[in-house]
Amino acid sequence: MGDSKQLIKREIRSFVRREGRITPAQREAVDSLWPRHGLEKTQLTDLDLTFGRKAPCFLEIGCGTGDALISLARANPDNNYIGAEVYLPGIGTMLQAIEKYGLTNVRLVRDDAMECLRESISDQSLNGVMVFFPDPWHKKRHNKRRLIQPSFLTLVVKKLKSHGRLFVGTDWQDYADHIIDISLEHPLLTNLAGDKIYAPRPAWRPLTRYEKRAIRLEHVVRDFVFTSN
Ligand SMILES: C[S@@+](CC[C@H](N)C(=O)[O-])C[C@H]1O[C@@H](n2cnc3c(N)ncnc32)[C@H](O)[C@@H]1O
Repeated sequence: MGDSKQLIKREIRSFVRREGRITPAQREAVDSLWPRHGLEKTQLTDLDLTFGRKAPCFLEIGCGTGDALISLARANPDNNYIGAEVYLPGIGTMLQAIEKYGLTNVRLVRDDAMECLRESISDQSLNGVMVFFPDPWHKKRHNKRRLIQPSFLTLVVKKLKSHGRLFVGTDWQDYADHIIDISLEHPLLTNLAGDKIYAPRPAWRPLTRYEKRAIRLEHVVRDFVFTSN
C-alpha cells in the first residue's frame, strides 16, 4: 500500500451534507443549546447513563425539523428519544423546541445514523427505530443511496431489543416496493401486517413536514411496522 495513490473507497451515504439557509435563531440555538441537548456518538453506547435513567428508548433517523420526535417526546415522558439528523437548520429548530417545552427525554446526534448504529449504539439497546419519509433518491442511478437497504435492516435488528419495532413511512411507491422486497428476504425481520402488506397508519404517528407535502401532492403514504424475531 505504501504508494501515495492509495485508493480511497468512499462510502455511499443516504444524505448530502448541506447547511441550507440557517436562520440566525437556529444558529444561535445550535451554538448555545447543543452542549445541553446534543450528543456525541460515543455517548450512545450507554443510553441509561446518557439519559440518567432506565427507560424504553426510541431512535428516529432523519427527524428533519422534529415534527414527529418532539411531539412523541412530549406525549410520552416515560420514554427516551434520540433524534439523528445531519441537517443543521433542522437541528437548530429541534433544539429550540426541546428548550421551549423543557424536554429532558430527548437528545440529538448530528452524525450519519448508519455510523451511529454501526459504531456506537449497543446491541439490543433500542425498543424502536423510526424512519419517517426517508429521502426517496428517486432516480434509478441514485437508488443505492437509499437508507433502507438489507445492510440497514440487519443493523437495526441487531440494535433492537427482542420484539423491538422498526416503523417506516414513505410516500414514494417505488421505495415502498423496495422495502417490501428486501424485508421479505430478511430472515430476522417480520412484517407485522403480513408479507407484502402495508400497516395501517399508526394512530400515534405525528404528521410531519414531509408528510404534509406528500398529502399536498396527493401521494399515497405507506406505513410499515416490522419486528425483530
Ligand atoms: C425527506 S427528509 C424527512 C424529514 C422528516 N422525517 C419529515 O418527515 O419531515 C429526510 C431527512 O433524513 C435526513 N437523513 C438522511 N440520511 C440520514 C442519515 N444517514 N443520518 C441522519 N439523517 C439522515 C436528511 O438530512 C433529511 O433531513
